[in-house]
Amino acid sequence: MRQMSAIAASTGVPLWYVDRAFAQSADAVKAVTSPNGRPRMALIGAGGMGTGDARNALNFADLVAVCDVDDNHAEKAANRLTEKNKGRKPEKYSDFRKVLERDDIDVIINGTPDHWHTLINIGAAKAKKDIYSEKPLTLTIDEGKRLVKTVRDNKVILQTGTQQRSSQRFRMACEMVRNGRIGELKEVNVWLPAGVRGGPFESKPIPEGLNWDYWQGSAKAYDYVPERCHRTFRNWWDYSGGTMTDWGAHHMDIGYWAVGLKAPVKVEGTPTALPIPGGYTTFSEYECRFEFENGVIYNVRTTADDSPFGATINPEGQRNGIRFKGTEGWIWVNRDEINAHDRGIFREELPEDAERLYVSNDHRGNFFESVISRKDPICPVEVGHRSATVCHLGAIALRTGKKLQWDGEKEFFVGDHAEEGNSYVEREMRKPYDYSFVS
Ligand SMILES: NC(=O)c1ccc[n+]([C@@H]2O[C@H](COP(=O)([O-])OP(=O)(O)OC[C@H]3O[C@@H](n4cnc5c(N)ncnc54)[C@H](O)[C@@H]3O)[C@@H](O)[C@H]2O)c1
Repeated sequence: MRQMSAIAASTGVPLWYVDRAFAQSADAVKAVTSPNGRPRMALIGAGGMGTGDARNALNFADLVAVCDVDDNHAEKAANRLTEKNKGRKPEKYSDFRKVLERDDIDVIINGTPDHWHTLINIGAAKAKKDIYSEKPLTLTIDEGKRLVKTVRDNKVILQTGTQQRSSQRFRMACEMVRNGRIGELKEVNVWLPAGVRGGPFESKPIPEGLNWDYWQGSAKAYDYVPERCHRTFRNWWDYSGGTMTDWGAHHMDIGYWAVGLKAPVKVEGTPTALPIPGGYTTFSEYECRFEFENGVIYNVRTTADDSPFGATINPEGQRNGIRFKGTEGWIWVNRDEINAHDRGIFREELPEDAERLYVSNDHRGNFFESVISRKDPICPVEVGHRSATVCHLGAIALRTGKKLQWDGEKEFFVGDHAEEGNSYVEREMRKPYDYSFVS
């Protein structure tokens, strides 16, 4: 009770809500923390997030391999994770296909940059490994279609690393919206952090230990430019989609969870800051508008109080979060707080017949529960694909500068400018890093 009260106080979520969520997930978490039959896992992509994911996953599984195309990262991660891995140093690899050949590995954690997610996930699914993959799940919409099929055909578990779904605060916001506490939903306003504008950049010698050609994979090959590589890859279209797909993958996912809608039918967007020639290519600041079949509008915009183009701060004075607007009020939620036009709307318990959502209080734990139960985790492949799709649609609208119409069933643009839009749905893959690489 003391622990639950502390969670309620720190999250702004009422005690009645915390109480129920704990009751629902306690048994399942006990099952995966059992010392019997711990799964054996490999970390592929041992940078910042992958190493963090693996450290957390060590609560549920043993780490037998670490794979990275930069040996410096593989060595550092293997050393850092050894202590929590009961003193056993994982074996190092540089080619993930060798990891996938091992029969004694049950699970992979994919912490590579976005342009590598799909090939590795498809290879892992074919090798019957369960997958915890970082977000955004894909680099293109076409990749998502292929991945959904491969994961389902091979009956493997895939959890997308959109961990906001395993937060009580975000779940409560979505349940409140779904159950009419702000009346009929009209708008979802998403504020994303502004990206960085930078450049021009110069090429440099390739650092020892880094296989730059392999790192670039299916993307077009360039001379080595440090800003293209570790961590800042997210600011280049070749490897990612800027904050639209980076933070967007989290917040658009929550928007979808609250609304339960299919794909948007219309999208348009305007960059409000342009890249510097020779520098990062994604837009650092922008606005996008998505329209859904039932008339709900999503507005997505970046916030930057130090922008040379004028300060843009949302009504809550925050840079980063989601505001649901209904006919009777609003709910604001982000990683720090949940708020509403009147906090009284959170006080009263939801009725017995209320629409309730999947409960997970630990994103990696929920994945390992699924590895054991073979039931879907909270963010299965379809959820990851759908949330990434809306981010990709926004990015395509920004890149084309056109008002586009989307057919969510066929997963293609239709109507005016469809051809231009569709030219971004799929990308040419540089050989040998195309689908044959993992066949
Ligand atoms: N869920 C979250 O909150 C969250 C937070 C941060 C990052 N991420 C996601 O995690 C991913 C990684 O981001 P990061 O900031 O950790 O990047 P990073 O650059 O620190 O790490 C990526 C690592 O992958 C390695 N790599 C690249 N290609 C590889 C390949 N083919 N095989 C093996 N290793 C390869 C790189 O050498 C590097 O060590 C991104 O997709 C990002 O969106 C998620």
